[in-house]
Amino acid sequence: MKTITRRQFGKGVTAAAAAAYAVVSLPQLVFGEPQPKRIEYPKGFLWGCATAAYQIEGGAQADGRGPSLWDTFSHTPGKTYHGDTGDVADDSYHLYKQDVQLLKNLGVSTYRMSLSWSRIFPSGTGQVNQKGLDYYNRVVDELLANNITPYITMFHWDTPAGLQGGWQSRDTSKAFADYCAFVTKHLGDKVKHWMTTNEFVCFTDLGYKIGQFAPGLKLPAGPVNQIRHHAILAHGLGVQAIRANTPSGTQVGLAENASIFAPVMETREHIEAARKATRAENAPFLTTILDGKYPESYLTEQGADAPKVAEGDMRAIGSPLDFVGLNTYNPSYVKAADSPKGYVVETMPASYPHMYSPWIQIGPECIYWTVRNVCDIWKDKAPAVFITENGTSSDDVLAPDGRVEDVDRVMYLRNHLTQLHRAASEGYPVKGYFLWSLMDNFEWADGYSKRFGIHYVDFKTLKRYPKLSAEWYKNTIATNAVE
Ligand code: GAL
Repeated sequence: MKTITRRQFGKGVTAAAAAAYAVVSLPQLVFGEPQPKRIEYPKGFLWGCATAAYQIEGGAQADGRGPSLWDTFSHTPGKTYHGDTGDVADDSYHLYKQDVQLLKNLGVSTYRMSLSWSRIFPSGTGQVNQKGLDYYNRVVDELLANNITPYITMFHWDTPAGLQGGWQSRDTSKAFADYCAFVTKHLGDKVKHWMTTNEFVCFTDLGYKIGQFAPGLKLPAGPVNQIRHHAILAHGLGVQAIRANTPSGTQVGLAENASIFAPVMETREHIEAARKATRAENAPFLTTILDGKYPESYLTEQGADAPKVAEGDMRAIGSPLDFVGLNTYNPSYVKAADSPKGYVVETMPASYPHMYSPWIQIGPECIYWTVRNVCDIWKDKAPAVFITENGTSSDDVLAPDGRVEDVDRVMYLRNHLTQLHRAASEGYPVKGYFLWSLMDNFEWADGYSKRFGIHYVDFKTLKRYPKLSAEWYKNTIATNAVE
């Protein structure tokens, strides 16, 4: 067979197309000023940015803060890129006023931040560190004074090192509830939106099974399933504690990186397969929380390794939520299968494109499908949905004039927000979007090698510089539309 070069192939196509035009009569094409359909978000849609305490605060030993498992882990040689730690990070502990000005300049109405548990309870439980609480009071006051509504995550992976056994111990779930009760008793008059935990799989499986995150253990299935149980129990007890200590009208939810399944094509059978996959593959976390029980298939699959559940656990775990926060970065694709599961998750080919972090495979429709799958499956259990994180790393370069032209990040955000708009316009109750992240920060095991911010941080001077993406996001917020 004659080999066809790309150029020849192209020519062939053009010729064939020309022939087709000759015989088929097409509607008249009008050239000139294009009239794009405006991708405008519903009125009142909330725009925000997200960060997490250990990633931005620094001040690791300031004013009586106790160590967290991430302090210990990052100080252990070989655990993070370059031995990077969160000791200083963005020093938001001292520079928080500047950071609030960055938010104000963007025009966001909301800010998602987390609290460092060991800043408030240096050993995780018992003795309170008033200075830690004072710090968060100052941050919250500063946000409110600038008309920015705080959305607070109680726990974003920085488990107090003083808690014996960490998440292996059921006592940690109880200590978490006490911490939630204390915090909301003191901040609940000012803060109306709370999230218990961030991304279960990252502090359970990645920390205790894979060992890539703190505390860096590699435990077998039985203990890992118990750790997962303690994590969702902490969430449930946390919801109860927050509700018991806050005025009515307070909104409680969580931030979860549910595994996202987009259908390989949008036909009925593949859409149904994506729904089945969403429920089954999120079994240990979101599914159990929203169903209020472990799926039978999960328990059967785990057999003797299934978690031990105490009386009352499931009631707490299934506590009703006001909103579900979805952290969204990358898709998996599924297709329908004639098998008991009813679906197959596709393997991504080596050629599948990704952003600067290899795990961020590009598939903007994932943001549409995560909202749609969760809302279709759980309906009134997810009365409102937020995208609590979405964003990307980029190989950002600070030019001598202070500019960072992160066009890849803009491309990523524009495409995701276009897809999210589809969910909003189809009537799914998506209420807001938090971009990850306000500024470059300590990216866990990747240290400072992966920048996710829309503000560039010079980690030597701690100076912040808006990137092109900050300009783009500011315009998105101002116009309430994707442009
Ligand atoms: C999320 C996590 C954030 C941030 C982001 C980018 O999984 O919640 O803390 O690091 O990923 O990797």
